[in-house]
Amino acid sequence: MTFVVTENCIKCKYTDCVDVCPVDCFHEGPNFLVIDPDECIDCTLCEPECPANAIFSEDEVPAAMEDFITLNAELAKIWPGITEVKDALPDADEWKGKSGKTDLLER
Ligand code: SF4
Ligand code: F3S
Repeated sequence: MTFVVTENCIKCKYTDCVDVCPVDCFHEGPNFLVIDPDECIDCTLCEPECPANAIFSEDEVPAAMEDFITLNAELAKIWPGITEVKDALPDADEWKGKSGKTDLLER
């Protein structure tokens, strides 16, 4: 089992999740974070911390976002780790809660 970052993170990237992860399993891309499923210990701490409600347990990922399970695993192997909170993206509050952001994911 692992936790998964989904579409709501795209163009927001608040990074509050990074602050609570005890095993530093978040990895950072230009406008999205992912969780390394091989590192996540299912502690559940990050899920309530995300202001955009982007994080789900693997077995609770909404059906429309199931592709994000493999996407997290794939990108976690490529992107560098992030261990410290940083400022959210400039327009984060405007993009928060918007749907249809998947095509805006930058790699
Ligand atoms: Fe890190 Fe825990 Fe979230 Fe997994 S569930 S990503 S270990 S904070
Ligand atoms: Fe993204 Fe939420 Fe973390 S917006 S960076 S998953 S706090």
